[in-house]
Amino acid sequence: MREKEPRYERFARELESQIQAGTFPEGSRLPALREASERSGLSLTTVIQAYRLLETKGLIIARPQSGYYVRAKPRKRPLEPEPELGGAALGAEEPAPVRIDELSLELFRESHEPDVAQFGAATPDPELLPTARLNRILAELARQNRFSLDTSVYPEGCEELRIQIAQRAYAAGCPLRPDEILITAGCTEAMALSLQCLCAPGDLVAIESPGYFGLLLLIEALGLRALEIPARPGLGLSLEALEFALENHPVKAVIAIPNFSNPLGSLMPNEHKRRLVEMLASRGVPLLENDVYGELYFGDRRPAPARAFDDSGSTLLCSSFSKDISPGYRIGWVAAGRRFPELLKLKIAINSGTSVLSQLTIASYLASGGYDRHLRKIREAYAHKVAAMQATIEESFPEGTRVSEPAGGYLLWLKLPGGLDSLELYREALKSRIAIAPGYLFSPSHKHKDYIRLSAAAFSERTAKDLVRLGRLVERLLRG
Ligand SMILES: Cc1ncc(COP(=O)(O)O)c(C=O)c1O
Repeated sequence: MREKEPRYERFARELESQIQAGTFPEGSRLPALREASERSGLSLTTVIQAYRLLETKGLIIARPQSGYYVRAKPRKRPLEPEPELGGAALGAEEPAPVRIDELSLELFRESHEPDVAQFGAATPDPELLPTARLNRILAELARQNRFSLDTSVYPEGCEELRIQIAQRAYAAGCPLRPDEILITAGCTEAMALSLQCLCAPGDLVAIESPGYFGLLLLIEALGLRALEIPARPGLGLSLEALEFALENHPVKAVIAIPNFSNPLGSLMPNEHKRRLVEMLASRGVPLLENDVYGELYFGDRRPAPARAFDDSGSTLLCSSFSKDISPGYRIGWVAAGRRFPELLKLKIAINSGTSVLSQLTIASYLASGGYDRHLRKIREAYAHKVAAMQATIEESFPEGTRVSEPAGGYLLWLKLPGGLDSLELYREALKSRIAIAPGYLFSPSHKHKDYIRLSAAAFSERTAKDLVRLGRLVERLLRG
């Protein structure tokens, strides 16, 4: 027996070996929770924890009002990577100015309409945010009169928050110095300042394709041009394609989300992260790394950002607390290394400093010690939502649908069957009060027309029926 192994883990391990031995074959129902608790002599809570652990590992699945079942493996409908493009084919990729139309703004607006099933925007589940706790901290700080005028004069951000961020980065294997961290209004401002610091209008940046459309909006607003580099399910940015691009184009900066990219949810292996930063350092090209989903891992431990492998200091690491604490507080940051003075100057020029009210509340929350517990809870909840959503898609979408296997975060990337147009599906779904993000938005050249992105943050027992309705709509459009 392993030392100090919690009871639920031991029970989960025993059950897992029974599943592997075939005692519980694929699709079979596991003993009900109460029954398992009585049989094993363990508490109901321990059994629930064990079942949840197996669910997070993708071995079993909960069916509402029915119980837990052994999941079919391997997944029936994995998202297969597009064939890797060779050098010649990549040469066909041309740098292009970015023009993303009104559609993406429409998506931001719809994400607030109450009667629409919100599978479109990548906002976190409001029930998985520590809102009540933040409210209490805010009230307490106000009572102590902490929000005085003089605290607003630090454009780099409050020291206590920068220290908290540096300590967490250290624990994630990525040491940062508090004095290189600039607090920003969300990850969006962190990326905007970084891009403004690294590039001038007309410059070329290499981006992941499919890639986060908020970034495309930013590239457009700054008058930059983009070169799309294919990202692959499971692995992220293709390093072969990137190398080819760097050899053939005057790329000024590379923008990537190595930990749980949006929309693919891929996790770049450490070896690739190392190769990526080495490849860029040897060419003097900076990396703008976005780690906004880094804490939402489904594996055993938090993956380190690529910045952890960079000895050259040419990676700017951007992140925020928007996905796990609150999108509304607008607290993000960039670890800018030697470029800190330039970024600080830009920050002062653009908005003087980030809201002290938000900064002190988040800093106090981080210092209070409940953050890790909160993260454990939401990681488990998102892994559960993602698995349940994948299972519903497998059951209710037509043959030929392919779905991604994210390693963290809460986004799913779907390939529609029969080359169905995602824009048409988007319009039709909206008439049925279902919001989705059409693949069309995830590339400046609108490459991924027959893909959609769905957010599992919005998936629950209540919205499962909306997803089933979406599957029927896909079926109907497919039949023409
Ligand atoms: C990859 C990525 N970066 C940045 C953001 C926005 O972050 P923030 O709200 O902190 O500006 C999002 C939100 O969807 C995102 O998915």
